[in-house]
Formats: sequence, structure tokens, C-alpha cells
Amino acid sequence: MSTSAIDSKLKIESERRRTFAIISHPDAGKTTLTEKLLLYAGMIRTAGMVHGRKQGTKVSSDWMHMERERGISITASAMQFAYKDNIINVLDTPGHQDFSEDTYRTLTAADSAVMVIDAAKGIETQTRKLFEVCRMRGIPILTFVNKMDLHGEDPFHLVAEVEEVLGIDASPVNWPIGMGKTFRGVADCNTAEITLFEKAAKAGSAKAIATSCSLQDALSSGTIDEEVAEKLGYELDLLKEAGNPFSREKFLAGTNTPVFFGSALTNFGVEPFFDAFADLAPCPGIRTADTPAGEEILIDPVKNKFSGFVFKVQANMDKKHRDSMAFIRVCSGRFERDLLIKHQASGKDIRLSRSHSMFGGERTTLDTAYPGDIIGVVNPGVFAIGDTVSLDGGFKFKPLPKFPPEVIAQIRPKDLMKRKSFDKGMRQFANEGTVLVLEGKTSHTSQPLVAAVGRLQFEVLQHRLKEEYNVDTELDELPYKHGAWLVGNTAQFRTTSSSFIAEDPHGRAIVLYTHEWEKRHLLEKNPDHELIEFID
Ligand code: G4P
Repeated sequence: MSTSAIDSKLKIESERRRTFAIISHPDAGKTTLTEKLLLYAGMIRTAGMVHGRKQGTKVSSDWMHMERERGISITASAMQFAYKDNIINVLDTPGHQDFSEDTYRTLTAADSAVMVIDAAKGIETQTRKLFEVCRMRGIPILTFVNKMDLHGEDPFHLVAEVEEVLGIDASPVNWPIGMGKTFRGVADCNTAEITLFEKAAKAGSAKAIATSCSLQDALSSGTIDEEVAEKLGYELDLLKEAGNPFSREKFLAGTNTPVFFGSALTNFGVEPFFDAFADLAPCPGIRTADTPAGEEILIDPVKNKFSGFVFKVQANMDKKHRDSMAFIRVCSGRFERDLLIKHQASGKDIRLSRSHSMFGGERTTLDTAYPGDIIGVVNPGVFAIGDTVSLDGGFKFKPLPKFPPEVIAQIRPKDLMKRKSFDKGMRQFANEGTVLVLEGKTSHTSQPLVAAVGRLQFEVLQHRLKEEYNVDTELDELPYKHGAWLVGNTAQFRTTSSSFIAEDPHGRAIVLYTHEWEKRHLLEKNPDHELIEFID
């Protein structure tokens, strides 16, 4: 194959990639929607495995025993499949009210996000937090208002809530026809073409039957009655007059979200959403990186040779394969099995020989990957989260965002004879980023501390120490509930009696305190310092 032929293939493949994550509050319908995406992509013939999942049948990326026990997905992972002309990479984000750093990191590997909202509940806490991360990183967001088959909030109210709570423009792309029992379909806000759905099978296990026509035709054929048509016509007019017009430019900059309505359970409105997603969501774009000389350079997915970064490391994922895996998001160029790459952090050349992709927790050998793809490689102990790998070396992608922890604890083995295994496990999990291991800097404690952004991370830590290292542990949570990164001279920072300074493994100082209001007090005491929530 000539070089130009390879390049055009690389360009085509890169442009058809859609790598995204779903952000939602637990129970909003993320799993159901993902499953329906698989159904409409032809990856599964019948939907309904989500229910099976709770009885232990695998549906997607449930690797860990605990995930199956709880019926939730804790570990971020990726699934790849073709949807019409596109290749979709869905990054799995934990759906639990305690959320972990895994989710933040996963979002850095996504080119866009889908925000799923429960029509009856509107914007919930978890959605808001995850949304915040997307906004900080300028990740474009598409909004899917789910559960329209149940009685929910007024659609105008929901759109206004997205705008008010999240502070961005929301532009309905389609509009619901009815709600709850009367929810029949969606109307295109631009063309007023309507699509009506009928259930093809119980509980949406098969694709819904869709018919599209103009509002006028539906009215004259008696498909919809006059009252419904009149209400819809009025609402569409109102949206045209008072709504925010969709702007692709603003969407790509993360300041406008297109809004869709539907029901993941009955499949009503899901295909129009998936089609619009494939059309609107961006393909892998240019990313910025730093050279060792401190110069900022742009890495183009097609023009630059292979590069990527590690966004997740995990050991013992499966009892059959007890090794550690590193997950790399490809940012540029073509990846081929056995590629010899430069590992920026260690300066070493490493052959990526055992590359895998994942489906349903099963490893499949991966020979080629393109920008946007996620490759899992066996980690020979060198890869850490955030590391850059590339064919030629000489640059490093921007570090992954770092949030200060919100829960802090001390952990110890119940049986002191197990100390060695405990230490081994802790080293592994600290390296994976399961929790942050901190060292207290002020007199408060000299013990190493474990810290996380959500309590679930502790549960995962204790569970994995037991399962993988056979160590039962005791965990004492400390009263600190807030944290902020300290900017300024650490030695000169004056703490209060209920706050203290700890240091992360990179020597970055974090101030931990018990109450939200203490931050202001600490800043008043230390006018030459800054306390920040997020380091990028
Ligand atoms: P999550 O991953 O965001 O946590 O949510 P998930 O898809 O697991 O959905 C949570 C619950 O909401 C499930 O019901 C699911 O069937 C239901 N659901 C999802 N989408 C819709 C929808 O469009 N309409 C309606 N009416 N329900 C929807 P469950 O009873 O908790 O679980 P299951 O026993 O049905 O599996």
C-alpha cells in the first residue's frame, strides 16, 4: 500500500470514529440506552439483557464480581462497534451516586458526551458534577431526555432547567408528541416532520416500528387527532420564536447542547437520536501537547504519527488473566500490533505486542486501531495514568485533570501478618489510581492516608484487597470532607485546627478541611495563597 493510500484510509477511519461517554445520574437510563444503541447497531438481536445483568448474565463491560453483585458498572471501560457508517467507541462511566476519579479520567478520553436525563427528575446531582467536568474541558454534550413514556416534567421546563442549572444554551432538535401513555413520537423542530412509533415487541426488546410524515399528512390521514396537532404546532412555533437556535460552532465549543426526547425502554425516539448523534458528534480532533522545552504543539489525528495516552490502568481484571492492563486512547496515527513506541515518562522504547479490545469483558486481539479507539495493552509495570506514548516521542499530552479528594481515611489490614500482601495491593491500587495515597504534611498525622473523590472508591479498594490479595481491612474515615489544591508556598500556609495539609505522590499540596465555609476563612488567613478545585 502506498503512503498516500494509508493516509487516506487513516483519514476516513479517523473521521468516522465517534468516541463518547454517557453522563447521567444512576437510574436515568444510561445502561438501557447503551443497550438500545447495540440493538440499533445490529450488535445484539434482542434487548433486555440489562434485566439479565442483575441476575448475573453479562451484558457489556461488567468485569468485576462486585459489579455483577450490585448490578452496576463500576469500572470504566470501552466498547466498540459499527453504527451505520460510523465506528462508535462508548466509554463506560460509573453510574453510582458516589463517583470516582475513574469517571473524570474517562471523560478525558472522550470526544463528546451524551447527557441522559430522567424526564421526571430533571438535572440531578451526579449529572451536574459530570457536566462540570465536560464544561471545564470543552467537551461537546448532546442531551437525551429519557423516560418520556412515563409522566414527567413539562418539556419546556426541562429545557429551561438545562439552561439554568448548567448555564449553557439548550436547543431542542426534536420535540415530544405527547407524554406518558400518550407519548407517540417526536417532531423535527426544523422541518416539523413527525415520526410516530409503535412497539414491535414487549418491553422494547426489538426495534420500534417508525413511520415518518408531515404534520399535515398525519392530521389529514387521521394518524393524529386535531387537538394533538394543534398543540404540537403551537409548541413548535413557540420554540422557533423563543428557543435558542442550535449552533454547531457553540455545540463543539461546549456552550450549546442539542436536546432530544425519547424513551430508551420502548425505543421511541432512540433511532432519531442515534442518527443525529452520529451526524453531530465530533470525530477525534486536534489535541495540545507540551515538548520537553515547554513549547505547546498541536497533535493532529491524521497528520501526526501514532500517539496516545494512558487513561486507565487496572490489574487482575479477570481471574484468567491476572496481569495489569493499561488502556490507551489513540490520539493520532495508526496503531498496529507490535508497534515499538516511545514511553515519554521513562524514556524507554516499548513494544505494544499484546493489544486487545474488549467486548463483554472478553479480550479480542487487536491488530489495528485508529484515532479515537481505545486499546488495552498488557502493562509491563511501566505505564501509569496520564502517560503519553508515541511513535517518535518528544512530547507529552496535557496532564489529566486532578480533583482534590472529598473523603479521607486510614486503612490497615485486620491481620497484621498480612502486611506484605496489603502493601503490595496498596502499591498496585495507588498506581492504578483506585485511590490517592497521601502523606500528611502538618502535625495532624504522620500516617499514610487514602483519599478519594467518592466513598465508592474505598469500597472498591477494600473489595479488591480482599478478592485479589486476600487481605481483610479496617477503614477509619476521617472528618475531612473538602479539599483544595494549594497554590503558593506550602511552608508559609497557616492552617486552622480543623484543617491540614497533605501531599500527593507528585509532591502537590492539598489542603483538607471539614466544612465548606472554612475555605473562605483559610483564604482570609492566607491572602498570598490560592485554593483551587481542579488542576488541569
Ligand atoms: P442507569 O444505567 O442509568 O442506572 O439506568 P438503567 O438503564 O439501568 O435504568 C434504570 C431503570 O429505569 C430500569 O428499571 C430501566 O428499565 C428503567 N428505564 C430506563 N429507560 C426507561 C424508559 O425510557 N422508560 C421507562 N419507563 N423506564 C426506563 P428497573 O426497574 O430499575 O430495572 P429492571 O428491573 O427493569 O432492569
